[in-house]
Amino acid sequence: MHRIGVISGDGIGPEIIAEGRKVLDAAADRYHFGIEWQEFDLGAERYLRTGQLLTEEDLTSLSQCRAIYFGAIGDERVKPGVLEKGILLALRFYFDQYVNLRPVKLLQGVWTPLAGKTPADIDFMVVRENTEDFYVGIGSRFRGRERKELEVVRELYQLRFSLDAESDAEEIAYQIGVISREGARRVLRYAFDLASRRRRKLTSVDKANVLTDVYGLWREVCAEEARSYPGVSVEYNFVDAITMWFVKNPEWFDVVVTPNMFGDIITDLGAMVQGGLGLAPGGNINPTGTSMFEPIHGSAPKYRGMGIANPFATIWAGSMLLDHLGEHVAAAAVLTAIEQSILAGITTRDMGGNSSTSGVGDAVARLVSLS
Ligand code: IPM
Ligand code: MG
Repeated sequence: MHRIGVISGDGIGPEIIAEGRKVLDAAADRYHFGIEWQEFDLGAERYLRTGQLLTEEDLTSLSQCRAIYFGAIGDERVKPGVLEKGILLALRFYFDQYVNLRPVKLLQGVWTPLAGKTPADIDFMVVRENTEDFYVGIGSRFRGRERKELEVVRELYQLRFSLDAESDAEEIAYQIGVISREGARRVLRYAFDLASRRRRKLTSVDKANVLTDVYGLWREVCAEEARSYPGVSVEYNFVDAITMWFVKNPEWFDVVVTPNMFGDIITDLGAMVQGGLGLAPGGNINPTGTSMFEPIHGSAPKYRGMGIANPFATIWAGSMLLDHLGEHVAAAAVLTAIEQSILAGITTRDMGGNSSTSGVGDAVARLVSLS
C-alpha cells in the first residue's frame, strides 16, 4: 500500500489529476498493489479564503506520504509569483527535491514540429538542478533615495549605474544566482548514474563563457565527476547553442544536465519538440526523501472546467511516480497505454482529436486494465 499525497491545485489542475488518479488506480488493480490517496487543499482558493499558502501542518502530513502527485497552480486573481513561490517552489525546496527529471521523448503517433524526426530521434532526459541558481531568491530593488543600500551594491559589484539621489523615479534591481559545489555534485552524480543506465552520453549545459563564477564551478564539478564515470562520454554546451541543437539534432542527446534556470527554459523547448506541453511530464526528486510528480505545464485558467485539457502529461507524470515507487511494470504499462490511446486517435483537441479530458482518462485506464 502506497500513500500518495495529492495536490490538485488551480485551473485545470483538478481535472487532469482526476484522470491521472483514474489511471493509477487501474494500474494498482491490474498489478496488485494499493494506493491510498490523501488530498491536500492547496492553491488559490484556499489562499484567497484564508491567506494560507503552505502550513507546517501541510508539510508534516505531506512528509508522511511516499510521494506527491501535483496538478498545477496559478490563478488570475493572485499576483504572479505568490502561489508559484509559496507553494510549488516552497515544496521543491522544503523536500530538497534537487533533481527535476524531465523526459523529452516523442511517443509513437505524436506530431513533432521538427521535420523528418521520428521517435527514434527524440528520446532524451533533461536533469534540471532544482534547488539553486537564480531560484534561491536572493535579490533586492532600490530606489534613488535609498542611498545607503545603493552605494553598498555599487561598490561591492563595481557597477556603473548612477541614480538621482533626490528622486525615487529611478530604480535598480538585482538578483543573485548561487551554485554550491555539493549542490552541483549531487545532481551531476544523479545525471551520470542515469546516463550509465542509458546510452552513456551526458551533455552539460551552462553559460560558463559569461557567468564564469557560478557556471565555472558547475563545469569544474562536472569534470571532476566525469572521472568516476569513464564509460560515459561528456560534452559541454552553452545554453544558447543547445537551443539550436535541440531543434536541429535532437538525436545527439541522451542525458542533458543543467542548472535550474536554463533547465526551466530548455524543458519548455523540449516539450514542444516532443509534441507540446500537453505531453511533457516531470518529477521533482529527492532520491532519499519525498518526491513530487507533475505535468510541466501550468494551470491554464482559461480552460478550467471545460473538459478539454490534455491529461497525458499528468498521466505520464503518474507513470514516473509509479516507477519511483518501484512499480516498474505498472509504470511501463501506463506509458504504453498512453501511446496506444494516441495511436487509436483518442486524444484531446490540442492534439487533433475530439475526446474530452475524461474520455482520454477512461481510455487509458481501460487499456491499462487490459494490459
Ligand atoms: C516549471 C515552472 C516553474 C519553474 C514555475 C511555475 C515556478 O515554470 O516547473 O518549469 O520555474 O520551475
Ligand atoms: Mg517552466
